[in-house]
Amino acid sequence: MAGAAAEAEKSPFEKELLAGKVALITGGGSGICFEVARQFGLHGASVVLMGRRPDVLQTAAESLRKESIRVEHVEGDVRSADDATRAVEFVIESFGKIDILVNGAAGNFLSPAEGLSSNAFKTVIEIDTIGTFNMCKAAFPGLRRGGKGRDGADGEGGVIINISATLHYGATWYQSHASAAKAAVDSLTRSLSLEWGPDYGIRTAGIAPGPIANTVGMQKLGVLVSEEDGLKNIPLRRMGKTWDIAMAALFLASRAGSWISGETLVVDGGHWLSKPQA
Ligand code: HXC
Repeated sequence: MAGAAAEAEKSPFEKELLAGKVALITGGGSGICFEVARQFGLHGASVVLMGRRPDVLQTAAESLRKESIRVEHVEGDVRSADDATRAVEFVIESFGKIDILVNGAAGNFLSPAEGLSSNAFKTVIEIDTIGTFNMCKAAFPGLRRGGKGRDGADGEGGVIINISATLHYGATWYQSHASAAKAAVDSLTRSLSLEWGPDYGIRTAGIAPGPIANTVGMQKLGVLVSEEDGLKNIPLRRMGKTWDIAMAALFLASRAGSWISGETLVVDGGHWLSKPQA
């Protein structure tokens, strides 16, 4: 990246923001969560990428290592509770503990409800919702106050960041499956913040990205939100960048977000609440 683009994506946070932290990022091999992993690494964290495609993970890890980021990767499907447990064990074997879990793995496609088989609906629920639950459950023993590798019994607990969407705030055409899945993710964010905050010191938060340029989500859903819409219907008059989401994730994962729990932060340039100009 060069010139104005590089300047625009310069981090406003200090380089040591996440120094000493260890993060597991599902879906970290590509798209939004690759940039989350990259920014976590550039701000001092050790990162583990989890995904289903070993070649994608390998390429992503190599690219991060070129930026001197401490990174490992683990193949796994978040739909499997066993894979979730194995991934968390791998993180602890690799870096001694887990501080941050980012649930970014998601599955989606456009389909009218009458065209969805029961299995199609279930597949998206399983990846987005059950996958998020599996990962939270597997990471819980490590994230809780006093968890493996944590400093002292009185130390802080870890942080969970669930990547959500704004699809379900109203209703979105041909997204009945993904809307239901992400509504459940937001509910889980609230429930876990309630149950895992008091005794275990775990913060659970979410990020709901708007349309982010150059992502699989945009390729698949671009019919709903085009670049042109970006200029017309997004109050801030631009498409989102993966960097925008990564900055929000840095904020939530860091001490700056230390009194935020149960909340899902919308990062969409004002898109979901906007209506065409009269
Ligand atoms: C209708 C479809 C379909 C489609 C798949 N299915 N695509 N039905 N329309 N376009 C049905 C299949 O026919 C099958 O049902 C069931 O879904 C499962 O499909 P599989 O291909 O067997 O599943 P799997 O291999 O597990 O793949 C899951 C996937 C796939 C979701 C279908 O696309 C995937 O793995 N995607 C991961 C990456 C991804 O989608 N990222 C985008 C996230 S975007 P039957 O009945 O035939 O068995 C995002 C952002 C949202 O989440 C917010 C944006 C603003």
